[in-house]
Amino acid sequence: MTSLTVHPATGGLQGRLRVPGDKSISHRALLLSALAPGTSRITGLSNGADVAATRRAVEAFGARTASEGGVVLVHGGERHEPTTVVDVGNSGTAIRLLAGWAAGLDGLSVLYGDDSIASRPMGRVVAPLRAMGARIDGRRRGELPPLVIRGGGLRGIDYQLPVPSAQVKGAVLLAGLTADGPTTVREQIPTRTHTEQMLAACGAEVQIDASSVTVQPGPVGPVDWDVPGDPSQAAFWVVAACLVPGSDLTVERVYVGPQRAGFIEVLQRMGADVELLDPDPATTVADIRVRAGALCATDVGGSEVPGLIDEIPVLAVAAAAATGTSTFADAAELKVKESDRIESMVGALGAVGARIEGRPDGLVVHGTGRPLAAGAVDARGDHRVAMALAVAALASSGPVRIEGWEAVATSYPAFEEDLRRCQSH
Ligand code: S3P
Repeated sequence: MTSLTVHPATGGLQGRLRVPGDKSISHRALLLSALAPGTSRITGLSNGADVAATRRAVEAFGARTASEGGVVLVHGGERHEPTTVVDVGNSGTAIRLLAGWAAGLDGLSVLYGDDSIASRPMGRVVAPLRAMGARIDGRRRGELPPLVIRGGGLRGIDYQLPVPSAQVKGAVLLAGLTADGPTTVREQIPTRTHTEQMLAACGAEVQIDASSVTVQPGPVGPVDWDVPGDPSQAAFWVVAACLVPGSDLTVERVYVGPQRAGFIEVLQRMGADVELLDPDPATTVADIRVRAGALCATDVGGSEVPGLIDEIPVLAVAAAAATGTSTFADAAELKVKESDRIESMVGALGAVGARIEGRPDGLVVHGTGRPLAAGAVDARGDHRVAMALAVAALASSGPVRIEGWEAVATSYPAFEEDLRRCQSH
């Protein structure tokens, strides 16, 4: 295990930053490009280990990929069963999307990952894919990885999501491309829309309604994908710049489309000075400018949660430094992310002096309006916990040692470099 000691920032965070390409879009760009006969070009693909795992996975199924400068070329359209088991590493998105993607293939696929993946719930994708006719087994009768999938011969289904999950929606829609008729996914609470938007972009017949998406079976074609910056990574810098006195930071070219920019609204509710510069309605990409200022408490819950679920660790840091008591509710999904993020954040933020309590479905944070303290914290193998704690450290009264820092490679290998960059102005 490696550790990183982060010191309080003096002089504020300044300048302009670019974060890695959006992870959700990157996984889907690889999966769709691998299905499309011909060559797709992906610019700005996430350089984290999660997306690298998906790239290796599509190669194991027969796609060929090459890097040319900042562009990844994917030669797709030839899919066969992999000769070895497919390792998704730490990526829940990879294993769930791949389950749906592989269910469409007439062949055998075995998907597994690291210790964290071994305890992530898979029943949510296995149930609808079995209803479509895929034969899937796994530990605890398919509840846990490894997943063993014998795909092909799928039928279209009309499926109501039991949990608001874009991963499940994505898996079912990807499987639907090879079904015998239309596949509909219905959701009570909206989730990120990348799968349906990207299916439409590569020529699939998709109907997107207010609370449902229907995909018709059929081929997809190659696309030149331009992946914008990841809002979930931008959120770390946005919160850091809110908290570190004297900051004035702009994060460039960030995706701010449906169900991804909820953290900005929450911070604005808390009184943060955050604005979107020149948002482009066509691409839903904008620069985010943030200046430091005092924050007050807020309540987060209900239908806004899926649109900011990954940002709750860093929003909890903002809440700990704000004045008043903030609550995060309806977020039991936090328990089944890369770590149990309720436990992880209570442990880690508590260790640097925050007054934070866990609830079965979220967190209660009693903000003090003062900087957090020095200390040592454990990221528990979770990249977002590690980076949230780095943000806490920047706004604390003394150095914070973060154990398990290596987890950051999952999604943001250059985080430390960017940390230096925005402190060096
Ligand atoms: C993702 C959806 C979310 C999110 C994850 C990425 C996706 O998970 O937490 O980091 O790309 O579809 P759920 O779909 O499980 O809520």
